[in-house]
Amino acid sequence: MEKQFQTTLDTIYLLKEGEVSAKSPSNIALIKYWGKKKNQIPTNSSISYTLTNSFTETTLKFTPKQEDGFDVKVYLEGEFKESFAPKIITFFERITAYIPFLEQYSFEVHTSNSFPHSSGIASSASGMSAMALCLVEIEKQLGAKLSEDKALEKASFLARLGSGSACRSVYKGLVEWGGNNFIKGSSDLYGTKFPDEEIHDVFKTFHDTILLIHEGEKSVSSTVGHNLMNGHPYAERRFDEANENLQKLIPILKSGDVKAFGELVEHEALTLHAMMMMSNPAFILMKPNTVAALDKLWEFRRETGNQLYFTLDAGANVHLLYPAEDAEAIEIFIENELKQFCQSGKYIKDKVNF
Ligand code: PMV
Repeated sequence: MEKQFQTTLDTIYLLKEGEVSAKSPSNIALIKYWGKKKNQIPTNSSISYTLTNSFTETTLKFTPKQEDGFDVKVYLEGEFKESFAPKIITFFERITAYIPFLEQYSFEVHTSNSFPHSSGIASSASGMSAMALCLVEIEKQLGAKLSEDKALEKASFLARLGSGSACRSVYKGLVEWGGNNFIKGSSDLYGTKFPDEEIHDVFKTFHDTILLIHEGEKSVSSTVGHNLMNGHPYAERRFDEANENLQKLIPILKSGDVKAFGELVEHEALTLHAMMMMSNPAFILMKPNTVAALDKLWEFRRETGNQLYFTLDAGANVHLLYPAEDAEAIEIFIENELKQFCQSGKYIKDKVNF
């Protein structure tokens, strides 16, 4: 039990009814979180970019009720989704010790994503972060005393209990998660905004174009993926390496060395995929078109010197990372040479959010 995040019913008053809203962006990890301990504690530190155009908007309506237990109805893009409630109930069970009014109200969750549900972009990070922000907002409306900073910290703490990486979607810019001795204020319990003044300007205008190589559900859920790190023969080395990589990234972010940044980030992405290939059971998360796109990208970089790099999440889609200064040439290349590898010829143009 993390006492600092607890609120008790005797310190708040209950309202007749109300409604709050929050918007939360998706994030893409540069140093990957892959593997967790009990209570969503990460096995290594991670850092991600918060995105601009990929986000979830959620409105949470609450009305008082008498009966015990949780009561939640979820609507996605205006449509009632019976199958979504169990995920929210599981989330409520995990956070009920920190949010005392969950059993006192009936909740209606109205949520929508800026990206299509079928696109293969996970909505769990932006979705859980938006939910957590809504709950903390209700807590504030009920009279809980929380400063702006503490409110965000609590939202990040709650979001983590919904979906680990969601704790990094509460803040803009670069967000770190995982307690270590080289980033001040870092914690296993919540995300921490990496200081903007420690980041060279070139990294603040980065583009992230997402090639939708494979739409629809991923072949492996992240829960299954994280669990495969338990007893994995290379797990301990991987956890150490992730922390070493984050340590290496810090001076790179400061100096603006795009080449070193890109090489490190690509290595992280390929390592995550390699870990899955070496798991038991094994999984190959890339599709043939993922490999074809990466091949073309490397060739383009070699031949033109344009600063185009990639990262991958735990699926087949490719996140293309590049600085604004090279965007024009790179976007012509994407349209002419990479679009063909996308399942429906679609990609999403996004940018980092500072
Ligand atoms: O937050 P989860 O449990 O969906 O895991 C996310 C894992 C990766 O996206 C692959 C890496 C990361 O750090 O976001």
